[in-house]
Amino acid sequence: MTQFSQYVAENKERFISELFELLRIPSVSADPKYKNDVLRTAEAVKEKLTAAGADNARLCDTKGYPVVYADKIIDPNLPTVLVYGHYDVQPPDPLELWNSPPFEPVIRKTDVHPDGAIFARGSCDDKGQMFMHVKALEAMLKNNALPCNVKFMIEGEEEVGSANLGDFLRANKDMLNADIILISDTSIVANDTPSIDVGLRGLAYMEVEVTGPNRDLHSGVYGGAVANPVNVLCKMIASMHDENNHITIPGFYDQVQTLSAEERADLNLAPFNPEAYKKDLQVGDVQGEKGYTTLERTGIRPTLDVNGIWGGYTGEGAKTVLPSKASAKISMRLVPNQTSEAIASLFEKHFTSIAPPSVKVKVTHHHGGEPVVISTKSKSFLAASLAMEETYGKKPIPTRGGGSIPIVALFKSVLGLDSVLFGFGLDSDALHSPNEHYGVFNYLKGIETIPLFYKHYVNNR
Ligand code: BES
Ligand code: MN
Ligand code: MN
Repeated sequence: MTQFSQYVAENKERFISELFELLRIPSVSADPKYKNDVLRTAEAVKEKLTAAGADNARLCDTKGYPVVYADKIIDPNLPTVLVYGHYDVQPPDPLELWNSPPFEPVIRKTDVHPDGAIFARGSCDDKGQMFMHVKALEAMLKNNALPCNVKFMIEGEEEVGSANLGDFLRANKDMLNADIILISDTSIVANDTPSIDVGLRGLAYMEVEVTGPNRDLHSGVYGGAVANPVNVLCKMIASMHDENNHITIPGFYDQVQTLSAEERADLNLAPFNPEAYKKDLQVGDVQGEKGYTTLERTGIRPTLDVNGIWGGYTGEGAKTVLPSKASAKISMRLVPNQTSEAIASLFEKHFTSIAPPSVKVKVTHHHGGEPVVISTKSKSFLAASLAMEETYGKKPIPTRGGGSIPIVALFKSVLGLDSVLFGFGLDSDALHSPNEHYGVFNYLKGIETIPLFYKHYVNNR
């Protein structure tokens, strides 16, 4: 038992109720109707940082929602850890699928969380994981055990693409000067199998609109003679994967880094139970690019997915209409060395080229983000690994996360800083889905493990 696990055990109930306070504010960045709540959350995070003992806590304006900054500088000659997290959350819909209201946190037991899990939007992604760092700072300060400087940068636009963060980094290089970035916004393999993500995918997010006739038509009078944009869009989308689930956009794979047989074998060492995976999702089978395992399909291979599609009549009953327009939101997950801008252009060029003359297409570029790979040889990775080994009793496995955190590549390109992806959630915690939850075990384990990262990082420098 470390001094930190003792402190966590003693303050457990309070740590949970303080997190509940943040979870009760619906900080949905995507929907302007929550604007005041998003701003209230930024204020609340600022206050929590001050209460934990941080100095200089303040809101920094951006073109969008503010960044919460705070620090504790104990000695300029010691290293500085910059903690990044986000206080915004995904929209909670569909509301009817939640077993309890998304912004009224409750603890319930589940099969994988026998000690209970906190159910609320943002519990895992990312308020719960971000708040572990605030409580870890409190634990270090209360135990006279903060071994270096720490800065916090908690943003409010991660879930909508962090569009203003590049400018923020460029404008605040001095304030953000640090030695390493520490982020808890990813997952571990299982509660008895610690792991650390050493990769994240990039993202290129597009929206397409296909227009046929200038107005909705009677599908009997015109059907069969005029292109139906919904039919056309479906065909265009379907054509973007071949029979091997390979993406057909010319040049799409040109920059994709191929891993050696050894690297692929390493990646597949991570425990993965296909039967449990299918059972959890209630799918009869997995699917994906031929020649790759599920772990490779999400870790090292790029994808193209429709995130939403609409057009024509979707109301009650039936309406015989040949719609004028159809639209879809389509995103591509990217891997090294693809870049979001190049892939977005390739998509646009291809999508336009496959449109038949019977329709017009419009392609809009939404946000992008670049993929990252993190070295397992660095001192910071080693420190994270030692910290987890101490609290889990097992060496964590390096894994590749399939999700995206666009700021990580920007930390490297703008500030020259590497990141440690010190996540404690589970992929099965229903991030972005109804009934998002975060294990009480995971939350408390994170709070007691984080201070050990600081200790090893400073000792092994
Ligand atoms: N925390 C997630 C990313 C994540 C989750 C990485 C699990 C690895 C494992 C983050 O909040 C997120 O959802 N990112 C978005 C990207 C953003 C540009 C909207 C994503 O991955 O879709
Ligand atoms: Mn997140
Ligand atoms: Mn997210």
